[in-house]
Amino acid sequence: MGKWISLFMAAVLVLSLGCSIKKMETDMTVAGLRCEYLENPLGIDQTSPRLSWILTSSGRGQKQTAYRVLVASSAENLAQDIGDLWDTGKVASDRSSQIVYNGKELVSRMRCYWKVYAWDRNGTMTAFSTPGFWSMGFLSGADWKGEWIGRKAVGPESAGTGQNQETPPGPPPPFFRKEFTLQKPVSSALAYVTARGVFELYVNGKRVGADIFAPEWTDYRKRIQYRTYDITSLVAQGGNAVGAVLGDGWYSGYLAWTKKRGHYGLQNSLLCQLEVEYQDGSTEIIVTDNTWRSSEGPILHSDILMGETFDARKEIPGWDAPGFDDTLWQPVILEEKPEARLLAQMSQPVQVTEHLAPVAVTEPQKGVYVFDLRQNIAGRVRLKVKGERGTKVTLRFAERLNPDGTIYTTNLRAAKCTDQYILKGGEEEIFEPRFTFHGFQYVELTGFPGVPGADAVTGCVLHSTTPPVGKFECSNQMVNRLWRNITWGQRGNFISIPTDCPQRDERLGWMGDAQIFVRTATFNMDVAAFFTKWMVDVEDAQSAEGAFADISPRFEALADHEAAPGWGDAGIIVPWTVYLVYGDTRIIEKHYGAMERWMDFLLNANPELVRRNKLGNNYGDWLSIGADTPKDLLATAYWAYDSRLMSKMAAAVGRGEDARKYERLFEDIRAAFQKNFVSPEGRVQGETQTDYLLALYMDLLPEGLRAKAAEYLVEDIRKKDWHLSTGFIGVRHLNPILTLMGYPDVAYRLLNNDTFPSWLYPIKNGATTIWERWDGWTAEKGFQDPGMNSFNHYSLGSIGEWLYRFVAGIDLDPEVPGYKRIVIHPYPGGGLEYARAEYSSIHGKIASGWSRSGDSLELDITVPVNTSATVYVPADPEAFITESGKPAEKAEGVKLLRREHGYAVFEVGSGMYSFKSTQAK
Ligand code: BGC
Repeated sequence: MGKWISLFMAAVLVLSLGCSIKKMETDMTVAGLRCEYLENPLGIDQTSPRLSWILTSSGRGQKQTAYRVLVASSAENLAQDIGDLWDTGKVASDRSSQIVYNGKELVSRMRCYWKVYAWDRNGTMTAFSTPGFWSMGFLSGADWKGEWIGRKAVGPESAGTGQNQETPPGPPPPFFRKEFTLQKPVSSALAYVTARGVFELYVNGKRVGADIFAPEWTDYRKRIQYRTYDITSLVAQGGNAVGAVLGDGWYSGYLAWTKKRGHYGLQNSLLCQLEVEYQDGSTEIIVTDNTWRSSEGPILHSDILMGETFDARKEIPGWDAPGFDDTLWQPVILEEKPEARLLAQMSQPVQVTEHLAPVAVTEPQKGVYVFDLRQNIAGRVRLKVKGERGTKVTLRFAERLNPDGTIYTTNLRAAKCTDQYILKGGEEEIFEPRFTFHGFQYVELTGFPGVPGADAVTGCVLHSTTPPVGKFECSNQMVNRLWRNITWGQRGNFISIPTDCPQRDERLGWMGDAQIFVRTATFNMDVAAFFTKWMVDVEDAQSAEGAFADISPRFEALADHEAAPGWGDAGIIVPWTVYLVYGDTRIIEKHYGAMERWMDFLLNANPELVRRNKLGNNYGDWLSIGADTPKDLLATAYWAYDSRLMSKMAAAVGRGEDARKYERLFEDIRAAFQKNFVSPEGRVQGETQTDYLLALYMDLLPEGLRAKAAEYLVEDIRKKDWHLSTGFIGVRHLNPILTLMGYPDVAYRLLNNDTFPSWLYPIKNGATTIWERWDGWTAEKGFQDPGMNSFNHYSLGSIGEWLYRFVAGIDLDPEVPGYKRIVIHPYPGGGLEYARAEYSSIHGKIASGWSRSGDSLELDITVPVNTSATVYVPADPEAFITESGKPAEKAEGVKLLRREHGYAVFEVGSGMYSFKSTQAK
């Protein structure tokens, strides 16, 4: 955050220290202020933003009984408790999230400084929170004063529109610049920027922010995001310069396997507006217009799938600083305004989050050097090189090696993933490409001058900077590796949108993968803002007829990809999950119309209540292992599930009549499902594992047949020598359903397997991410079909949810969503000595960890302030249970509810608890 905000924080602290000390009579504190799930966001365009905060306390049973939110138009006002924009007064409420701003109308550019007081369970007021901040972006198109500027393409038009032709590169990314004079001392400056294409902004020789691929991927025909940056510390009275570079990105670059550029347009353009406020209160704005100049620069071409070529001999020193002579640059051309709406990007930007040093360098062929990062990542490398002018170093990327130690690139399909750097000569040179990324563990260098040291290459991991919120650990190192692989799979694929894979010519927002993985994703990272943004893409991709697409965002070349069962249904499942995990009802309200249109689309196409029509590409239980789940059955199961979720979501937003309508629809589809697919003995047509999993998870069987169905499921697993056969769809439900249906031992057995097909099998074969296929590579058979063999696909990693919810035991109560009411219910087993997890929910940090020694079991938990938890302590029926050394029933803040099925069930408020019990192994 810029100087601007730190100054304001300091001012608030100094001004308010006096009153804060007086009020410190409770140990409850308020912190972690967020607005629309973001910390101090700049330039939002939500006029009734939602606020949240986190309460902490060292005691037990602490809660908020009231709050007061103050929103002020200046730091000074806030410090004096003047909420001139909004002062809620004391509100008796235990809500600390999803508080909707309801003060003075928020208008473009407004700055909002806010803080919170809370009252604890005794009615004692806390000190004020650390102050928070947000600013409003542009709420109307009229706020944009500039023109869209572009550069006339020089040389042959390289659209590459023909099918199956070689992929010609796009034109060189243009550089733009403009100098301006600021007459007076500056008090603040903001930059509002967007592009058709992807931009990097520079002010006075410095890069603005660290965002990569801004303004990120949306359906640019409908919507283009803009970013807001605080550039106060970069500008000053006197001469200044602003510059920008524009890459192709998703707008005009190659997308998927289409071998075609320009899916949304071929001409990139920039729109930028700098707004400066002088210390005397007057303002100045600098916008893109025909006074800007443009030039080609050192980047010869750059494409997400193909890679980037950089000729350092063409670098233009000083181009982005004042005083540069740009007479040889050309005037810009003015581009048409887009028809799309401009809106603020209100999700965490893509940035580099980690640097990895290689662990080994080999030379499998003369002059061919291969660096191993020991981790498959999405990102790129920083190259360090010194050599003669004109030397060309080529970097290629791969997830695996061939047996001879060279890199294996066949599975990248048409994605060239090749970067080239041409040296300018002289001192050591550093190259890091700007507008491309690759999925890789290995980096091949050729043409390197001399022998590269290990530090010639540094891996730069990039992804949407969704904050990490979860951790899992247990006594089995292979399982820990599995958890890390799941997290790496998420990091490698949450790049602006949830993609299927980061390496080959695909990298699309596949909806099936997203809905299968979304719950796991919420445990690893705070993905509230990420999925809030993506749901807009999902709605934008919906067809006029109401079909959700298979991929979102959508583009013309794949327009026929829609309505596939298990994929389109993400349009219902994702909002539902965001509601469950974050208590977010707005996502339901916002997309309610779209969800209704989807429900109408399904019903219109399938009046018989079996989903047989309009199934699009109908992928079924994609990549199952010799176990084809009947496609009508899978489709109908999802439709029933959608209806149930619609009914619950309707109820959550107060649409009682709809709730009943959709519950009736659920019942009717359920009846049709039973009539068509279920035998009187509870056998489900097809008899695959996924059949039973869907029927059980989606509640499609008569109550009396559920246990039978679970038996058949286990019978099938046993027949396969205790192996799974599920594909992308079934796999998510496997271990959760086995556990809930009374077979946690079978779930653990599947977890611990390391023979094909199983989660640990790829790990035995060197996986550091989740693979698309269990047998992507095996010692016996080598590589799977290169036509479809990604080593970084998160779908099969949907078991992450089970590790958190059932192994460590952190779960939520769907009736009180947002982890306001927590369920701690671990299932110790699988030969594990211990397992523990932590999860920072919207209400604060939850922890659950158990360990065993002999037949005694210890369960340590943390429950955040302002929540309560039902705790299932594993214990023999008669076991004596203690909590922090005291008999559990007598411990502070602990209430025994009942004993059942090998558990003693307690009710607790916030705090840390340590239970000990006996439980035979
Ligand atoms: C993708 C998947 C996707 C599938 C649809 C594949 O090419 O990589 O992850 O869900 O197509 O079946």
